[in-house]
Amino acid sequence: MADQHELDDEIRLDALEFTYDELLAEDPYEEPLFASGVRCHGGYVDGAYVSPRGRVRRPAIANWQQRLRDAGEPLVYVPGRYLPPTYPNYAQAKYLLKEGVTEPITRSLTIISIIEGFGARIRDVPVPDLRKEILEDIAGTALAHLDGGLFEAHARDEAGHRDQGGHKQMWESARDIGLAKPHIPGDVLMRLMTGSSGRGRGERLFPDLSERLEMLITTMANVLVVETFADNTFTWAQQLLGDPEVSADAEAANHMVTCIASDEVPHVDYLTAAISELRARTLISEDGRKELRGKEVVDAIFSRQLRGMATRRPQENRERFREEIHQAIDNKARASMIARRFEDLDSGWTFPHGDDEELDILLETA
Ligand SMILES: [Fe+2]
Ligand SMILES: [Fe+2]
Repeated sequence: MADQHELDDEIRLDALEFTYDELLAEDPYEEPLFASGVRCHGGYVDGAYVSPRGRVRRPAIANWQQRLRDAGEPLVYVPGRYLPPTYPNYAQAKYLLKEGVTEPITRSLTIISIIEGFGARIRDVPVPDLRKEILEDIAGTALAHLDGGLFEAHARDEAGHRDQGGHKQMWESARDIGLAKPHIPGDVLMRLMTGSSGRGRGERLFPDLSERLEMLITTMANVLVVETFADNTFTWAQQLLGDPEVSADAEAANHMVTCIASDEVPHVDYLTAAISELRARTLISEDGRKELRGKEVVDAIFSRQLRGMATRRPQENRERFREEIHQAIDNKARASMIARRFEDLDSGWTFPHGDDEELDILLETA
């Protein structure tokens, strides 16, 4: 194991190639992070929270992105107008908590923690032999490091690793701090499993590519969209759990959510790099006879995943929530009254269409 000084010497400012261990290397923490008594990843340096496994991963991702910019290649991103607002919104959620209707909010926060735990599945995504299926060289790219530490670091961040909790435990803690250890409904997981119909990957858009390659691109696009959508969730949770009128410990709950949000930055950033690298290259069909432009493949898959999730999710949430309000309140007249006022606070949202039909998913580089 390299000690601190060796490691510092090894990370050259412009390096593009890293070992597995380097991409998982930790900063020298003075103090660990604890979430409701559970030792978690990350820790404090000079009194400020620093995300886990970032010592080399952070500069590495910055270097890969810079390489794309230097080559004049755009970086994909999801523009703000495609991000569905959180449902229920802050005003709606606060209203429910003030009325003592805690269960639907507890359920939402618990679902977030469970989904974070599912994030560990990224380490099981089969990575094809990219050197065979991509025409150009991929040395010194995020793509070349997906199964060389990037997916593993991501998985550990989400679900925790060994004796350290990850986002799953940190969200549970934020919920328990803010809502003062609420009763957790017993059917959360069951509902989550049965409530998401039609979440399949859909038909293959590019059957000429190997199934593994198309699946890898689809998964990365999906996760990037989910991670980007999560931005709104963090703001929502920071507002709600950080609101002393409804939070049992606004400061501590808000801090926990802020730590999670900062851990998500490298996820968005390495996926952005890898997808943008693919976009700038030529993909080779499974039979080796055809060449497909990465730009066409990535843009088609990315747009489909974005559109699918941005239209389906808000709708599912709305339907689920209406039901849950009624379920949480015994008195029918009171349930109807609360449901009506709750609906009045709805900000509404539809996926942009019409002249936005051509998705503008690219960030031009200067
Ligand atoms: Fe996460
Ligand atoms: Fe994440």
